Amino acid sequence: MDSLWLDSVNKFDNLSSLNEDIEADICIVGAGILGVTSAYYLSKLGYKTVVLEKDNIATKTTAFTTGKITSQHGLFYSYLIKTFGANFAKDYLNSNEKAIENIVNIIEDEKINCDLELQNNYVYTMSASGLPAIEEEISAVQSLGGACEFTTTTSFPFKIKGAVCFKNQAQFNPLKYVHALCQKSIDRGAIFYVNTVANNIEKYGELYQTFANNHIVTSKYVIVASHYPFMKLPGLYFSKMYQSTSYIIAIDPKKTLPSGMYICSEKPYFSFRTAMFNGKRILLIGGFEHKTGQPVFYKDSYGALENEAKRLYPDCEILYKWSTEDCISLDKVPYIGSYSPSLPNVFVGTGFKKWGMSLSNVAANIIVDAIRNVDNKYAGDYSSLRFDVFKNFKEFKNMMVQSANSLIFNKLKPSEKDFERIKNNSGGIIQINKDKVGIYKDSNGKVFAVKPVCTHLGCLLSWNDVDKTWDCPCHGSRYDFTGKNLYNPAFNDLETYDLNEY
Ligand code: FES
Repeated sequence: MDSLWLDSVNKFDNLSSLNEDIEADICIVGAGILGVTSAYYLSKLGYKTVVLEKDNIATKTTAFTTGKITSQHGLFYSYLIKTFGANFAKDYLNSNEKAIENIVNIIEDEKINCDLELQNNYVYTMSASGLPAIEEEISAVQSLGGACEFTTTTSFPFKIKGAVCFKNQAQFNPLKYVHALCQKSIDRGAIFYVNTVANNIEKYGELYQTFANNHIVTSKYVIVASHYPFMKLPGLYFSKMYQSTSYIIAIDPKKTLPSGMYICSEKPYFSFRTAMFNGKRILLIGGFEHKTGQPVFYKDSYGALENEAKRLYPDCEILYKWSTEDCISLDKVPYIGSYSPSLPNVFVGTGFKKWGMSLSNVAANIIVDAIRNVDNKYAGDYSSLRFDVFKNFKEFKNMMVQSANSLIFNKLKPSEKDFERIKNNSGGIIQINKDKVGIYKDSNGKVFAVKPVCTHLGCLLSWNDVDKTWDCPCHGSRYDFTGKNLYNPAFNDLETYDLNEY
């Protein structure tokens, strides 16, 4: 599954994996947009920076985003004011607006060719019952001093009842941007190691040791910028965050496209933006979000997106299909800052909730300022040390129930599927003797058998028939049908079975 963005850049094939013990000022784990942006700022400031990446540069979450750079994160400001108060909501708005400005300035200063375009962003409703929430959001944003407008028209071929419009937002090709920042960081002395799996961080006197590929990076500071904070303890991020999967297609509509970035305020949450592809303007359509590991509402999410595309543009051609996975904190605000009180110079940025383009820049600035010992007025708002389950007790309870089911009860229940009933190009869990076995049959009937137990904390996995993956309902780790780990917090592959042994 390749995204449009992955196809538009060449992989960094000249980077090696970590093969010796080294020392640095700062060790960054993860070379997605947060890790690379942090490396860019730090190398510019003259810090000796080392980045450890499990795969290659920005091949995970950043490669599968929609690439919208906006401070409008759904109908979010009325929620923020109600939950945290107006001062907090204002800081959130201003920090994200500042992030847009920062990104645009970097692109201009460094002359980065990444298809940057200033665009208006719209959150719209198609139903009269959705209008009060739109109106409430407009009042909320305006009460914070933010600029937004109400509109009832779009230039897309669908009718809306109303929308909140934020002007002067932006879109770009996120991989062209991150690759350019990576190269600028390398030019300034940062060292990037790929195919390097960090598996632990320990305090070492006043310093820290990061363990990866049987080697050690010793540094004064560490930034955990991986897709998911990979250490179980301390931090307990798995108890205050969940993951969400959504699906995207890219189409050539065979028609001239209007401008603007759009997202619907109610289900199904369709998202639209245009992008450049081989000199042509194409359209990305996203939607059908679900909690990772939970049953997929639309069994054929890509098919449902294609139907929507064909409804709008009957002659369109489907160019790409991909899915994306995002971490969401319990209170919907990212965790940025110290990883835990016991690791004060280890920093983390996570829980960007699908809005990682602006929020990764907010996070990089907060963390870099902490390392430089410079005050950052937004640092307290995003503190990663908070743990207030009552801000979203319903979701916390869901997580606990889901974990208990997946860790204990579902493992004891007999599997409903049997081997013969699993069709080609599909999968499921069957029972063989007392063991649960995860089966996938490819389109030719070849069988892949895995132990369907997550290597993070042992939850029973679910089969995702849309992407042909094994997904964990507890904290959202994912594996391909061969058992290869795709997404954290687990980083080990699944055990595989030889069915002849049964
Ligand atoms: Fe935690 Fe699977 S991701 S148990």
